Amino acid sequence: MVNAEDRHGSDAPGGTVDEWARRFQTLKPDEVPAPILDDLSRKGTTSDSVVPELVWRNELGGQTWRLADRYLKWSPHAAGIDLRREIQRLRWLEGRHPAPLVLGSGDDSVGQWMLTAALDADTAVSDFWRSHPEQAVRAIAEGLRRLHALPFTDAPSHWESWVSRTPPELGPRPSVTNPVLVHGDACSPNTLIDADGRFAANVDVGDLAVGDRWADLAVGAMSLEWNYGAGWDGLFYEVYGVEPDSARIVYYRALWSSES
Ligand SMILES: Nc1ncnc2c1ncn2[C@@H]1O[C@H](COP(=O)(O)OP(=O)(O)OP(=O)(O)O)[C@@H](O)[C@H]1O
Ligand SMILES: [Mg+2]
Repeated sequence: MVNAEDRHGSDAPGGTVDEWARRFQTLKPDEVPAPILDDLSRKGTTSDSVVPELVWRNELGGQTWRLADRYLKWSPHAAGIDLRREIQRLRWLEGRHPAPLVLGSGDDSVGQWMLTAALDADTAVSDFWRSHPEQAVRAIAEGLRRLHALPFTDAPSHWESWVSRTPPELGPRPSVTNPVLVHGDACSPNTLIDADGRFAANVDVGDLAVGDRWADLAVGAMSLEWNYGAGWDGLFYEVYGVEPDSARIVYYRALWSSES
């Protein structure tokens, strides 16, 4: 199992743009492009065909490709991630919170895939936003604040994720006094920012579930350091509008490391 920091780019602040591209935008020698890519990039005639651009590969072997105005997210069966979880949640979020619109999904010989409409926005860890951290941090905090303000009484009650687990080795969980809809992977790359520097959307919502907002805040603040360097957590909590809660920060970081 890859540790959580590695999955999300812990060495980014010190990494160059080239290192970043090699790590997150280049397949490993033993990886092949998602088999479904061929079908999806051929639109009809040869002149219509699209050249796919790999925008993200995760350390579990998942791939995200841009195909003009669509994004293909593909996950090998071996990664143990069920994209149907994310599809259900994206469909529920439609009209409630900015997130990709699902256009299609399926299985290919070695994995599962989902096709979404391209949002006109860039990840908070693009080369540009990594060199403009203050605006990026503000947008990430704003997005979480908006997500956490959503009414969720009509969300499917069976949705669960690591945020609601209570492994005995972590001791008693701090009380959840004000539950919210938790993103479940509040790392910086999962916020998209528009051209004006404002929060545009959240992606990667397969672990969306009701729980403690600190599950997102603790992980979100930790990932800022990996992507922008140290010292951004104060601004993050301030823009979100909360005082740091050290007991919950410690608990949910430990839970994330052990369960996500
Ligand atoms: N519909 C979309 N519009 C614009 N960008 C998108 C869209 N879907 C995905 N992306 C981009 O692709 C990236 C990867 O998508 P996503 O986070 O869902 O993949 P992942 O492999 O689950 O990521 P992680 O490494 O965090 O597990 C996002 O950070 C975002 O930049
Ligand atoms: Mg992601």
